[in-house]
Amino acid sequence: MYDYLIVGAGLFGAIFAYEAKQRGKKCLVIDKRNHIGGNVYTKEVEGIQVHEYGAHIFHTNNKRIWDYVNQFAEFNRYTNSPIANYKGEIYNLPFNMNTFNKLWGVTSPEEAKQKIEEQRKAANITEPSNLEEQAISLVGTDIYQKLIKGYTEKQWGRPANELPAFIIKRLPVRFTYDNNYFNDRFQGIPVGGYTQIFEKLLDGIDVKLKTDFFKEREELEALANKIVFTGMIDQFYDYQFGVLNYRSLKFETKVLNDTDNFQGNAVVNYTDSETAYTRMIEHKHFEFGKQEKTVITKEYPMEWEQGLEPYYPINDEENNTVYKQYKDLADQEAKVIFGGRLANYKYYDMHQVIGEALATVEREFGK
Ligand code: FDA
Repeated sequence: MYDYLIVGAGLFGAIFAYEAKQRGKKCLVIDKRNHIGGNVYTKEVEGIQVHEYGAHIFHTNNKRIWDYVNQFAEFNRYTNSPIANYKGEIYNLPFNMNTFNKLWGVTSPEEAKQKIEEQRKAANITEPSNLEEQAISLVGTDIYQKLIKGYTEKQWGRPANELPAFIIKRLPVRFTYDNNYFNDRFQGIPVGGYTQIFEKLLDGIDVKLKTDFFKEREELEALANKIVFTGMIDQFYDYQFGVLNYRSLKFETKVLNDTDNFQGNAVVNYTDSETAYTRMIEHKHFEFGKQEKTVITKEYPMEWEQGLEPYYPINDEENNTVYKQYKDLADQEAKVIFGGRLANYKYYDMHQVIGEALATVEREFGK
């Protein structure tokens, strides 16, 4: 008999299993995929670590979380500085003095602020009623038209003037020549990929891959005293209050044999509406790779339907209300712990999942 059956070998499940084992507990970890690591999984192709489920850049402000992951891998000095490609025009992201200089020829922060202010005033939006108005009221028309509109419409599959304003609460605008996307103290990519972290976390723990909890629920539940569940919460409760909605993605990965450097940057965002994908990743640049070949991945946003991979929760009022009903049931469970992005129906970055997993461990076992 196991102490815990852990459903999901992603970040939440693997950390819980590791910490439980340290405390003498016996765990069985299952995952329906054929690999460990969840969406953080990386796979070696042509000597390059390929981020199978989209670009994963580790960043955090929390020293405890940074020290925690550094136990399992050495992190490099990668700093995320994505490039925007708008119909062949190249701009730096996040919006900063390099972007403003390229857009308007301005060289001082004062001039850039004035330009944005002029455009905000000219648009004359007092109470933004949709995403388009919200974005223009925050950063003006030029940035909106070239760098936000097309990208956002592709991401959500709807025109920006039909999307709710709340999706964009604020837009990071920086009046320095600084292309670092994140503001956090710590940032990097594990040298040799993310999967090694999961191999170490799950070392000495029973792991069963290609095992879907819902296909053998009764047999699996009988194996352990408690369950840690990191799958979809609506499925756990048999969709009794309805299906929670997501946006999905399709990844198209190619090895390029005739070039060692295709786009000169790890992440390029395509911000026009004609290009069907939102991003192109060139994986070797996450690790400053010098291999002869290169591997690229195009990322296409998609409508989600059951059977597709649920990537981004749609946290609008309707879905949040349905989630709340599931959460009320979950709160009453004595033998099931829910954790991670799918069970909490919440977008989490990696450092946030680690924080949540460690807090759950403390609640379960004490400090
Ligand atoms: P995760 O989804 O990783 O793990 C859950 C596991 O449970 C999966 O392996 C799944 O197969 C398994 N499972 C589900 N149902 C099951 C069932 N019924 N039976 C058995 N197994 C089941 N974060 C960041 O910090 N920096 C970044 O750059 C990015 N980039 C990024 C890009 C994209 C495209 C996405 C979608 C996400 C990111 N993230 C990110 C977020 C990151 O991926 C996320 O924080 C973690 O993967 C969450 O870990 P979890 O363990 O919660 O879920």
